[in-house]
Amino acid sequence: MTTSLLRVDNLSVVFRRSGRPAVHAVDDVSLTVAAGRTLGLVGESGSGKTTVGRCVVGLQSPTDGDLFLDGRSLGHKRTRADHRLIQMVFQDPTSSLDPRQRVIDAVGEPLRVQQGAGRRLAREKAREMLREVGLTDALVDRFAHQLSGGQRQRVVIARTMILRPRLTVCDEPVSALDVSVQAQVVNLLAELQEQSGVGYLFIAHDLAVVRHIAHDVAVMHLGRVVESGPAEDVYNNPHHPYTLALMSAVLTTEPDGRGEQRIVLDGEMPSPSNPPEGCSFHTRCFRYEKLGRPGRCRQEVPASISLPKEQRHKVACHFPTEVSVNPSGRRTC
Ligand SMILES: Nc1ncnc2c1ncn2[C@@H]1O[C@H](COP(=O)(O)OP(=O)(O)O)[C@@H](O)[C@H]1O
Ligand SMILES: [Mg+2]
Repeated sequence: MTTSLLRVDNLSVVFRRSGRPAVHAVDDVSLTVAAGRTLGLVGESGSGKTTVGRCVVGLQSPTDGDLFLDGRSLGHKRTRADHRLIQMVFQDPTSSLDPRQRVIDAVGEPLRVQQGAGRRLAREKAREMLREVGLTDALVDRFAHQLSGGQRQRVVIARTMILRPRLTVCDEPVSALDVSVQAQVVNLLAELQEQSGVGYLFIAHDLAVVRHIAHDVAVMHLGRVVESGPAEDVYNNPHHPYTLALMSAVLTTEPDGRGEQRIVLDGEMPSPSNPPEGCSFHTRCFRYEKLGRPGRCRQEVPASISLPKEQRHKVACHFPTEVSVNPSGRRTC
């Protein structure tokens, strides 16, 4: 068996603040990222994705659980090398950049700070890196505010990749960008992965964004992974009603072969400070209603179970559906 680049075992994060109920932001999450591959971590806002990402880069301490890089425990104290090997790209490129810094110095800075490189060497390497991310030499002396959103995110990516990380957490890296440039930035990330072999934990609230970059997908709802597996299997054969609902934002459904129907979830995601008993999705689940509200959904937390045909495809639902996608892209339940 090959060792995963990143392994997260039973990660939980509870935020406790005096006088307020505890927030169960991440609840027993396990996932892996293979070397040079991309795991898409998808779910609505507030499902705990950023908190998982922050634990992976060491910005947040887990309440419980373990993290491993190349099979080695990351423990509580990270080394300088760990910080170089695991980087993070945030959603908003503007707040990731110092407005007083020129592009070339912003990109070279990590080499100076983390590796003690001199100014000249850092600038030389930064210039090379900026070309790799598709920014011309004409832009290197500009300040962040003189760039477009897409160019700014390219600068942030250059600043991250210059350290040659093994793993990068990309936290909604294109959500703040115009739709027209989102694909370009996703393609850039894919190219950089091919060249450098970096692994990505790619966070998105939308399954469509990760479709073209993710090799594997994990779907999160209210702090838990409800479905995960190879991207092809999850997209073509989703089993969890929540995955189906997220997908219906991308594709239209034909549950009975009659007309198109979009699955609309009942209400907002419940609060992680007061999650429902049993399956945390049951209060919004159309299958729960259709099946006559089975008591099991209210009483028992569903375990994550491998599907018989594809062991890596797992689903945490008492009554998973089998859905196939026909070649026209329309699905039938
Ligand atoms: N530092 C914090 N203190 C208290 N609650 C937090 C903190 N950070 C995140 N949360 C809460 O944890 C939940 C998950 O947040 P987050 O990981 O940011 O989700 P996502 O990235 O999927 O939108 C949310 O309810 C959020 O309000
Ligand atoms: Mg987030």
